Amino acid sequence: MRSRTIVFVTFAFVAIGQAQTPARSAAPVPTKSGAAAPAPRVYANLAQLMRGILFPASNVIFAAQGDDPDKVPPAKDPATATDPLASSYGKWQAVENSALAMSEAANLLMMPGRKCSNGVAVPIRNADWPKFVQGLRDAGTTAYKAAQSKNTDNILTAADAITEACANCHNKYREKPNLADRCK
Ligand code: HEC
Repeated sequence: MRSRTIVFVTFAFVAIGQAQTPARSAAPVPTKSGAAAPAPRVYANLAQLMRGILFPASNVIFAAQGDDPDKVPPAKDPATATDPLASSYGKWQAVENSALAMSEAANLLMMPGRKCSNGVAVPIRNADWPKFVQGLRDAGTTAYKAAQSKNTDNILTAADAITEACANCHNKYREKPNLADRCK
C-alpha cells in the first residue's frame, strides 16, 4: 500500500509539471437553438503546442526543400502512416496541409488562458506577440501557396520565411539561459 501511494504522488507531480488544468478561455458560442455550446478550452502548455503542431508541420515543409514530395514513396499502409508525406494525404498535399496547420496553430497561439511550460502566462497582451504570431500566419500562407505551385524555388523561399517567423519569436521569448525567464 505504501509504495502505491508514492507512485500516485509522483504521477500527480509529473502531470502538474507538464500539462495545465484546462481553463475556460473564451465566450461560449450560442447555437441556433439558443443553448450555449461549450466554449473553446486550452489543453496544452505552449511548449506542448509547439511540439505537437508547429514542430512536425514545419518539418514537412523543410523536407520539401531537399526531396521532391512527388517522389516520396507511399508507406506500406498509407492510411496508418506516421509520415504525412507518405500517407493517404501525402506528397504535395501533405505540404499544403502542413502549411495550413501552421496558420491555424497561429490562432491557438492567441488563445487566452494558456501557460508556458514554466507556468508564466503566454504573453498575448504584449505588443510584439501578435506581430510574431502574424509573421507565422503569413509564413504559413506563403508555404501553402508554394506547395500549390509545386515549385522548389517557392518552397525554399517559404522555408526561409518559416525559419524567420519561428526565430523572431523564439529570440525574444524562448532563448533564455533559465527556463523561468521564458515568455517574459
Ligand atoms: C509567437 C511566438 C512563437 C512562434 C511564432 C513560434 N514559437 Fe516555438 N516557442 C515559443 C515559446 C515562447 C516557446 C517556449 C514555450 C514553453 O517553454 O512553454 C517555444 C517553444 C518551442 C518548442 C519547444 C522547445 C522546448 O523547449 O522543448 C518547439 C519545438 C518550437 N517552439 C517550435 C517552433 C516552430 C517550428 C515554430 C515556427 C514554425 C515556432 N516554434 C514558432 C514561441 C513561439
